[in-house]
Amino acid sequence: MTMRSIAAATLILFSGCTMRRAEPTRAPFGQLPDGRRVELFTLRNTHGVEVNVMTYGAIITSIRTPDADGHVADVALGFDSLSGYLGSSPYFGAIVGRYANRIAGGRFALDGVEYHLARNNGPNSLHGGVRGFDKVLWTGEPTEKGVRLRYTSADGEEGYPGAVTVAVNYTLTDDNELIVDYDASTTKATPLNLSQHTYWNLHGEGTGTILDLRLMLNASAFTPVDSTLIPTGKIVPVEGTPFDFRQPTPIGARIDQANEQLRFGRGYDHNWVLDLPSPGVLTAVARLDDPVSGRVLEVRTTEPGIQFYSGNFLDGSIKGKGGHVYGRRSGLCLETQHFPDSPNHANFPSTILRPGARYQSRTVFAFSTRRS
Ligand code: GLA
Repeated sequence: MTMRSIAAATLILFSGCTMRRAEPTRAPFGQLPDGRRVELFTLRNTHGVEVNVMTYGAIITSIRTPDADGHVADVALGFDSLSGYLGSSPYFGAIVGRYANRIAGGRFALDGVEYHLARNNGPNSLHGGVRGFDKVLWTGEPTEKGVRLRYTSADGEEGYPGAVTVAVNYTLTDDNELIVDYDASTTKATPLNLSQHTYWNLHGEGTGTILDLRLMLNASAFTPVDSTLIPTGKIVPVEGTPFDFRQPTPIGARIDQANEQLRFGRGYDHNWVLDLPSPGVLTAVARLDDPVSGRVLEVRTTEPGIQFYSGNFLDGSIKGKGGHVYGRRSGLCLETQHFPDSPNHANFPSTILRPGARYQSRTVFAFSTRRS
């Protein structure tokens, strides 16, 4: 059975409740220390799904979805107010860029010039550097079913060449899809790799670990890493390893096996090479389901890779929404992306955007329920 047919066979849209669709609303969501105002956009569909997005970091602050019995819970980790996000948030809900994931040694060469980035993750640069796209103020405007966020990253920002103009559109459809569309252009050649860093817990945030959620990844290979989580450059089949999620498997089933890659990641924190029919075609690549609540999340993307991060670095030091303590593996990320450190690996799909070209990418998070 293909992933698509399994999804078709088991997914039931939230048929119980149908409500009138509300227009997206906007409201103040506090101020940055320099006085600039942050706004919050609320998207609601006819099936009781509600998504909140703020202009700081283009961050999704909450995603409320019904379970199989119609009970609504927030399935995204985060904070109740802006101040939490201004503290030490591990990229909760954010758009990460210019380069989602790691660049080895914070260094790359492009057209014969060497560039140096901040090393904010051991020896490496992570998620765009010290002040990545998750820590800047975007502008927001409502669209018919969502919000369009824009940001212009100056030439040289965080060490990257070229001024990059980015638009991210979040759209919530009445088919229970949250569509994330990325569009960007640049004035000089630059690496660009954008991703969405929501931490999911389909039980509801703050209610324990994600270890019993079942994950399916439409990927027959992954990119193994060194001890600093930089790909070695090899593309290795998942067959016979704890990285084989081609059949739905509880996340906790193999996560603590004696395995060098799991040891390096302290669990899953790796990039899977997705089985796309051809590059750039929107394809169902991941499915997460919660046997308890019956919530199902399907991820579709045009990107060639996905970083599945099992929340290994959450350690209980963060108090999130409602004072919930976010312990180890209490949320997981499914970051659709190009492969980590691509600027230093000629065998990986290119992440270089050149002037005159458009960066376009789409990821869809589709919500449904099933009864086990
Ligand atoms: C990414 C990385 C992880 C971790 C988190 C944030 O997903 O792959 O290693 O750094 O961000 O804590």
